[in-house]
Amino acid sequence: GTAKEALKDRIKRLLAEQDAVLVAHYYVDGDLQALAEETGGHVADSLEMARFGSESDAKTLVVCGVRFMGETAKILNPEKRVLMPTLQATCSLDEGCPADAFSAFCDAHPDRTVVVYANTSAEVKARADWVVTSSIALPIVKHLHAQGEKILWAPDKYLGRYVQRMTGADMLLWDSACVVHEEFKGFALERVRRLHPDAAVLVHPESPEEVIDQADVVGSTTQLINAVRDLPNAEFIVATDEGIFWKMHQLAPDKQLIAAPTAGEGATCESCAHCPWMAMNALQNLAAVLERGDQEIRIDESTRQRAVIPIQRMLDFAR
Ligand code: 13P
Ligand code: SF4
Repeated sequence: GTAKEALKDRIKRLLAEQDAVLVAHYYVDGDLQALAEETGGHVADSLEMARFGSESDAKTLVVCGVRFMGETAKILNPEKRVLMPTLQATCSLDEGCPADAFSAFCDAHPDRTVVVYANTSAEVKARADWVVTSSIALPIVKHLHAQGEKILWAPDKYLGRYVQRMTGADMLLWDSACVVHEEFKGFALERVRRLHPDAAVLVHPESPEEVIDQADVVGSTTQLINAVRDLPNAEFIVATDEGIFWKMHQLAPDKQLIAAPTAGEGATCESCAHCPWMAMNALQNLAAVLERGDQEIRIDESTRQRAVIPIQRMLDFAR
């Protein structure tokens, strides 16, 4: 409605006044993704979000997503101000891997190369040899395995198990999961597939093994979006956060998108998968943070200096 348009106009004015740019993840509200695109910002997966922050000339980065995404932006760009609509937007993987317990785990296995998923705190990254995102985990672990390295992996056990199966690497896994993707059910997915035999199945690798095993494409959010654009199928069954449908519809409006089931009962998705922390990002709190300048990411400098090394290693490898 017009109230929403007025709010968007206010945000656009504030962004221009403050030399600020929006960097949004595909799981946030479609209005935020659209606004990022209209204002010269970027909508992306977590690896590309990290890259974009460094490429932008803006003095302020406003990260619409979850806390670790804002932290990665700040770690890579300490001279920039990094704001988020709310600093309360965390991630179950980040929460499931506290820095002190993780550090003790590393101490107990000094012979292993430490590879951590991007969905972790700055303190956990500071303890890592490598940071990876879902789009680059496989090639990096393959590379380490080829060099004969044994790996300590944290925190997502499903992604870790998938990477381990695909590469054959020796991986010791931390036990944590994404509360959103963990809900996808293999048995219910089989039923949906029988109803849509020609659909391609797209799965984010934070999903359980029996769901990944049914996938035609396993990948990061960007990789799944590209599959909808590029594959010839008319129908897709999608096992990831429903926020991704905004971009999939935009790029492939004629294709039929079906949410993979999160419930064991029934063949349809009654309550679609949606991250409660991604959902905390909204036009209202975005406008508020631009006005008040609170909700700013701050990272201890010695932590930052250690955390930037494994992140930069990933970015250099990805190039
Ligand atoms: P991507 O790197 O694939 O965008 O994933 C981030 C995430 O939080 C998935 O739940
Ligand atoms: Fe974390 Fe899962 Fe939310 Fe992604 S969807 S931010 S992994 S809780």
